[in-house]
Amino acid sequence: MPDPDTNLPIVAPHPWSIDQIPFERIVHERLADEDVWFYVLAAASFVESLSDLYAHNLLGHMEDDADAGQWLRERWEPEELQHGRALRRYVETVWPAFDWQTAFDGFCADYRPHCKPELLEPTRALEMVARCVVEAGTSGLYGLLQQISPEPVLTTLVRHIRNDEVGHYKYFYHFFLRYLEIERPSRWQVARVLQQRLGVIGQEDAYLALKNVFALRNPGQTFSPQDFQRFQHQAGQWARADYPYEMTVKMLLKPLRLPGFVNHMALPLLLHHARRVVAP
Ligand SMILES: [Fe+2]
Ligand SMILES: [Fe+2]
Repeated sequence: MPDPDTNLPIVAPHPWSIDQIPFERIVHERLADEDVWFYVLAAASFVESLSDLYAHNLLGHMEDDADAGQWLRERWEPEELQHGRALRRYVETVWPAFDWQTAFDGFCADYRPHCKPELLEPTRALEMVARCVVEAGTSGLYGLLQQISPEPVLTTLVRHIRNDEVGHYKYFYHFFLRYLEIERPSRWQVARVLQQRLGVIGQEDAYLALKNVFALRNPGQTFSPQDFQRFQHQAGQWARADYPYEMTVKMLLKPLRLPGFVNHMALPLLLHHARRVVAP
């Protein structure tokens, strides 16, 4: 049934399924020797596959909101877990020697202590802002991967994932508007959450995911901050021309609900800044 404010269906059928991805048609030689792609896709599969933990924490925060609870349980969590399963299958198909489960178990052990319900924002409106930042970040990441993917099956897969992430953003924004009315956070509180979340986006989870992929690939070696910087540098090179800067910055600005002319002035400045941050 459509929501009267946004016209969005509260729970719509899943638009795609892992069974529709033609893994048997992967052009292996396009990626099999591309180490950075291996690391990025394996790390992404880990972070997505832990979504049951994030969903559990968030459901606790949104108790008694029937719409949000239903959407989180029936749509958001299954979609995020499907992202994890599909990326895992892609990684295991192209790099069959990689022991995904062992590396994922290491990631879970490292990351679980950092993912506690106490780390959620104190109010629902502000937590929805934080979720918007995460979904804007994942939309940007998969949008970039779709642009630069050298392998057609991967392009299809990351396009589906990217579309899901944009959909997640829209729902979290919809719930943000609901709690904005009730809790009335100030624009400064919203800006503070945006700034804090942007500062840590992809840091802890991406670092620990890459660390555990690296540990399994390079037995006896330690993943150093220099190794992480090497990945960040490579990601910056990829992002230089192909990152969807404008879409991402617009998604990030939206919860501030700035007057039109301020938004119009802020956009070019923030785009310039975002380019320097993503691809220094
Ligand atoms: Fe996802
Ligand atoms: Fe998402």
